[in-house]
Amino acid sequence: MELTKEQQAILDGAKGETMAKVMRTLVNYGEVFGAQKMVPVTARYGHLVLSFGLTFLGPVFDLFQKLIDEGCLSGQKFTCDPRPYDKNVPQSVLQKGVAKFVFGKQSRYEKQLEQLGILGEDSYTCTCYLDEIGNTPKQGDVLSWAESSAVVYANSVLGARCNRNSGIIELFGSVAGFVPYFGLLTDEGRKADWIVELKTTKMPDAQILGSAIGMKVMEDVPYVKGLDAYLGTELTDKAKTYLKDFGAATASNGAVGLYHIENLTPEAKQQGEDLIKPGAKVYVIDDAELERVKNGYPCIWKNKDAAPKLCFLGCPHMTLEQIKDWTEKLEAGLKAAGNEKVLVPTVFTTSTGVLKKLNETPYAARLKKIGVIVSYICPLMFMDNPLWQSQPVITSSNKLRTYTTARFYSNDEILSILTKEGK
Ligand code: F3S
Repeated sequence: MELTKEQQAILDGAKGETMAKVMRTLVNYGEVFGAQKMVPVTARYGHLVLSFGLTFLGPVFDLFQKLIDEGCLSGQKFTCDPRPYDKNVPQSVLQKGVAKFVFGKQSRYEKQLEQLGILGEDSYTCTCYLDEIGNTPKQGDVLSWAESSAVVYANSVLGARCNRNSGIIELFGSVAGFVPYFGLLTDEGRKADWIVELKTTKMPDAQILGSAIGMKVMEDVPYVKGLDAYLGTELTDKAKTYLKDFGAATASNGAVGLYHIENLTPEAKQQGEDLIKPGAKVYVIDDAELERVKNGYPCIWKNKDAAPKLCFLGCPHMTLEQIKDWTEKLEAGLKAAGNEKVLVPTVFTTSTGVLKKLNETPYAARLKKIGVIVSYICPLMFMDNPLWQSQPVITSSNKLRTYTTARFYSNDEILSILTKEGK
């Protein structure tokens, strides 16, 4: 790899031994992927994936302490993934006790994040790019992020440039101020390997469509035709919310870091079919294909006929409009079925920024009235408690389904389960 004078000096120890190791790690990482150079991180803020003070992550906390002690702090302020635990989420006394042990290093870790440069108390969310948080990169910005749902959103919807880095590597990029130039940072790496032709008779569920595409193309870049018929040709709040959930499913059910939506996402609008590589493969998706994909999800509950004990919605974190929309649908569904409260304990997850805004609206009280709790946690990390793994949890998040024992239902099915007996 060819380094600039400044980069070479850092590698040679001009900023200390620890900083030299940070640079060495980034260079080695880049060389594995054939990078020929390092480029500056140009986005205003970073974002860290590691938000959880798991008791057994001692070496990670030691590493963070070393960075702090040696003054190797992040050159840019950063946001961070959601906190893992909230005592307000329904749970047994035993589950609470185990969570206290599992996340026993949380407050120590959050202190380290403060010292390293976290933006603020409200910075814990995977939807850092929403207006309420303000970590919204511009088109062409180079990022050093790792959270897969945020990386795919930043690349695809905002037109920023970021690889699917791992945790800690992304922090090193923010500390050094440089990242290796390869993959999704390059023009060639952003071209589409797949054409996805959407031929459904109605708007597909974002989570199932994303899952189907993710499982088919894996880490490749898809160029999706036909979705603009449902989402329109402008990135409205509604379209962006759909793409948030769609993208998270592509990134977790496969390993997509960038997708293009014809006539809608920035690069697809600017470059059109020039973005498609010659000889790109074709994947046709119709109603039957979506049904086939959904029917293929395994249910790994111990007792497949168990009644659900908890429902999580909001992975990635919900937008304010999503919360309002769900409130109205649940109220209408409950009224039609003659019920007053949701039939399964339900938790919506969102950022603290959105939570504060929600609390200024009547929707907060309306949710409370129908028995829905709103929390700032990451449900995936929350379920990292071994006592949750055998519990019948349901969700409409395909990311949560993939990483935990939670069972997937479409949004329409969840609405029925939460509001009508016998569903
Ligand atoms: Fe966000 Fe946690 Fe889901 S980080 S995308 S809520 S797994």
